[in-house]
Amino acid sequence: MIGRLNHVAIAVRDIAKASAVYRDTLGARVTAPVVEAAHGVTVVFIELPNTKIELLEPLGPESPIARFLDKNPDGGIHHLCYEVEDIIAARDQLKAKGARVLGDGEPKIGAHGKPVLFLHPKDFCGTLVELEQA
Ligand code: CO
Repeated sequence: MIGRLNHVAIAVRDIAKASAVYRDTLGARVTAPVVEAAHGVTVVFIELPNTKIELLEPLGPESPIARFLDKNPDGGIHHLCYEVEDIIAARDQLKAKGARVLGDGEPKIGAHGKPVLFLHPKDFCGTLVELEQA
């Protein structure tokens, strides 16, 4: 069902500092920051030849990323995003197998303008999983 790894997301306190680490120390291509008010985050993408890294900085104290950083003060891996061909079909198959879909279970438009869903980490080896329609 799942296809390519679309991105690995890392929660950071300071997206400018984190961007500089990837650009200047690791020599990667880094996009400009984009504010995603609906998701409570500022996002930067690191473009690697085979996938992307998504840096997430909380936008305000109510951001889900702020809560993650309370538990992980140095930042850390927040979720993995896998591509699926049909997000509704994937969701329905997963639910039939007992997996929990977060929120109201309906896809939202993610950082790439494509429908995304999040799956409960307890059902996926302790890792928050994002599905994105390819
Ligand atoms: Co993501």
